[in-house]
Amino acid sequence: MVRERSTVIGGRTTRWLESGGANAARTLVWLHAFPLGADMWQPQLQSVPEGCRVVAPDLAGFGGTADHSGRPSIDDFAHDLDDLAHHLGLRHFVLGGLSMGGYAVFAYLRLNPSRLKGIVLADTKSGADTTQARDGRQKMLDLVASKGVAGVADEMVPKLLGVTTQRANPGLALQVRATIEANSAEGVSRSIQRLRDRPDATSQLARAAIPALVIVGEEDGITPVAEARSMANALPEATLAVLPRAGHLSNLEAPDAFQAALWPWLTAL
Ligand code: MLT
Repeated sequence: MVRERSTVIGGRTTRWLESGGANAARTLVWLHAFPLGADMWQPQLQSVPEGCRVVAPDLAGFGGTADHSGRPSIDDFAHDLDDLAHHLGLRHFVLGGLSMGGYAVFAYLRLNPSRLKGIVLADTKSGADTTQARDGRQKMLDLVASKGVAGVADEMVPKLLGVTTQRANPGLALQVRATIEANSAEGVSRSIQRLRDRPDATSQLARAAIPALVIVGEEDGITPVAEARSMANALPEATLAVLPRAGHLSNLEAPDAFQAALWPWLTAL
């Protein structure tokens, strides 16, 4: 059963979803992609194995979690996660993130690596934005200002989903669009700035001396298989899983294959 929780931490409301036993031996915390929310982890929340717990927060400015008021930074997500871990009494946990969530995993590795037993990097990359990507962020900021989150959904949904999903599972495109449109324009704008200004995390990979699972959809056009392969090669203890017929949102597009890679890896830690 998936439970929805919300509390005030540091003066701001934080919402998260969780499943599995509160005293489970292993806790996996999932950080979501841009511009979605914790609900994108429903397949993984619903399939949690015995002895494991899954916690999936809405990141600041998304869903039911209030944003910070200062200049936005990807590090905000790491500080919020540290506060939530403290609130939940999580001393050691496995941290996973998909795309933007992966950028937040790198931010947490900079902040408090001693809490981490392992990391899952799904459909993400370690590099910073190129000049061209930064120009694209400005276009996206202009789009939110002119057309709101619906404009962002028009632009992003075809990129987030692989060609197979777009052909075979149009219902998922509607579901992803609804999740995007539930967010506020302000929260989405502030996270575009977080994405644009994030640092290059590539040099962190070799120092991440903990087990890492790298997952990527073979049809991922945003963070392609080559990015996943190069992260896996640079990480000291990595396992790479390439999921057939899945795009960028591989956990939603191929949940069975995603879980077949995830749960045996997690329960063996
Ligand atoms: C995401 O899926 O979180 C975003 O596509 C990441 C990005 O745009 O860099």
